[in-house]
Amino acid sequence: MAPLFQRTTFLSSLVLSLLVIASSATAAVFEHLSVGVVRIHADATARDSALPSFSIVGPLPATTTLVEAPVALVFMRRQGRHAARVAIASGTDLYGTGEVFGPLRRNGTRTICWNTDSYAYGAKNLSLYQSHPWVLAVRADGTAFGVLADTSYRCLIDLTDGILFAADGPAFPIIIIEGDSPQQVLVRLASLIGTMPPPPRWALGYHQCRYSYTPDDRVLEVARTFREKRIPCDVIWWDIDYMDGYRSFTFQPHDFPDPQATNDALHAMDFRSIAIVDPGIAVLPGYHVYDSGNAIDAWVRDRDGLPFVGKVWPGDCVFPDFTRADVRRWWSGLYWEFLDSGLDGIWNDMNEPAVFETAKWTMPEDNVHLADDELGGPGTHARYHNVYGMLMSQATFEGVAAARPDRRPFVLTRASFLGGHRYAATWTGDNVASWEHLDASIPMVLNLGLSGQPFAGPDIGGFCEAGDGDMFARWMGFGALFPFARGHTGKGNIDKEPWAFAAHVETTSRRALEGRYRLLPYLYTVFQEAWTTGLPVWRPLFFADPADPSLRAVDDAWLIGDDLLVIANTDPGDGSPTTTLPSGDWRDVTGDVFGTRDDPDLPRLMLKDGAVLPLGPIVQSTAEPWDILTVLVNPDEAGRAEGRWYDDDGEGHGYLDGDFGDWILSFERGRLDRIRTAGARNAPDCETIIIDVEQDRR
Ligand code: NOJ
Repeated sequence: MAPLFQRTTFLSSLVLSLLVIASSATAAVFEHLSVGVVRIHADATARDSALPSFSIVGPLPATTTLVEAPVALVFMRRQGRHAARVAIASGTDLYGTGEVFGPLRRNGTRTICWNTDSYAYGAKNLSLYQSHPWVLAVRADGTAFGVLADTSYRCLIDLTDGILFAADGPAFPIIIIEGDSPQQVLVRLASLIGTMPPPPRWALGYHQCRYSYTPDDRVLEVARTFREKRIPCDVIWWDIDYMDGYRSFTFQPHDFPDPQATNDALHAMDFRSIAIVDPGIAVLPGYHVYDSGNAIDAWVRDRDGLPFVGKVWPGDCVFPDFTRADVRRWWSGLYWEFLDSGLDGIWNDMNEPAVFETAKWTMPEDNVHLADDELGGPGTHARYHNVYGMLMSQATFEGVAAARPDRRPFVLTRASFLGGHRYAATWTGDNVASWEHLDASIPMVLNLGLSGQPFAGPDIGGFCEAGDGDMFARWMGFGALFPFARGHTGKGNIDKEPWAFAAHVETTSRRALEGRYRLLPYLYTVFQEAWTTGLPVWRPLFFADPADPSLRAVDDAWLIGDDLLVIANTDPGDGSPTTTLPSGDWRDVTGDVFGTRDDPDLPRLMLKDGAVLPLGPIVQSTAEPWDILTVLVNPDEAGRAEGRWYDDDGEGHGYLDGDFGDWILSFERGRLDRIRTAGARNAPDCETIIIDVEQDRR
């Protein structure tokens, strides 16, 4: 068997296909999709009856032929379900599996892909809010492959003995992606499932949320306090209490009488606002969303063909059937008027969908969706449950884009599916204010990044329960660097703004957020890499050297892009954080970014040798103009360093017409050159300060 785990030649793939035939007693069908990518069906019947994919973008030219097949795959039945097992060689480490609580390295774990509203989740919860039937496997030699089970049904991912997928519903194909490195596998995955859309630059700022800031004066007070205390922030969030009776697309007339004026006041302070919109629509004749949805019979049906009614925040609700294009268009259209209020982005929540007072906290699996043929035609909720949230966020994204054609949409979603990053960023739901969750938030975001979703973060400070200031400071210390950085907390909880605890917590939060804003030129460049290639923003340490076994299970240190390494102290106590470092002459740049090396709640930052790190000045929001570029350089042995800097207007689509700049910052001891490699944009007119961190430390 052993040779089959290697990349095989055309000839050995013949042997492999025989192995598949022998083990499933039928003829597996191999389809070559693109370089290094093979789709395998259990047999010709399975291929002919395969359902459309929700993850893969567009029809792929598939050649049915025997092609290179890099792994040993067996189709089988397991407890009445269709299943597929991929064997792994010893030394192979497994990652991905989407939104999961637990260690970065997934060997030995089980995950059940079934989107679930999991308040105060923990290690016992095998299903969280999103489903990614996808595993990234890194072999001992640093080469890698990925396995995608292309099914939307409930699906077990069992990694206790190799890689096993077992799913409800009909037979499903397996897609194998081979790569010379984990990075190459992810780039090839993105060629199948697409990349994230370019976000507006303000979405890379810090976000402040709570359930709920109300009334409107409180929203403005929070925004003003950020500016008064000079703590950088870009966005204030409106949770469900801004709505009238929790009815989506409405404003509470007493507490939010003039949302446009509130948004004008926020904009005048360089703040943006994002409002929550839930899928459960109150059954209430006269309510415009209910009436207009009724007019197109928009709702998911029960098994008797009647609109399914379930309870969510507003009481009895019906649920849009997002598997229909006409329903998605109707939903998109609702944003047209809603965004006249001046809101800047939309937050889709409760879209697993969560349904209160039911045994499984969602709708019955025999509910019926009248899906369009291109999605697979009418079918049960069992088939469409896992993609409900993703399709909702697609409709939202398209609605916001159409209402604001000159701007980049920003949508956040709680429920999603492999491929959902095409429409929305995400957060990790109702976590807990505990050291355990602080710790777990790092591998959660890393594994989402290894599952196609680069734009993710937790509720910094914890959603459930209070926690305390010491924990908050530590979480904000490194949490300010999450791709999506938002503080949030639950109803009735203590305040959790950066100033709500002791003075030292406020100081650490300010330093951490100032550091994030200083890093924006670099962070924006890393995001641009994510939206063009599919590589994650936060990357596991083993990306620095995929063949180094000592880096494979590091949970509390990671990379942002390729050049910046972060080491967090996730334990209570003031011990200085340490980790195994990848080889190379990494230099500490903590003080250059945060202004101090002596705050135990801040992470340590290390710059790779031969790398260049562009930093902006401290600003209070992404709207603030800046005129000084600081370039940290860590020259290699030959005295050289190089880095990329990408910049555009951060809001519109002008970058598509060349209104961007892509520069190589090239350093040779004593001198920095800025070489434009693409785009027509001139570099911001700014003074440049070069800090050679090697000389600086001597
Ligand atoms: C559940 C979400 O997970 C949480 O973030 C939000 O605050 C509440 N719903 C209320 O909308």
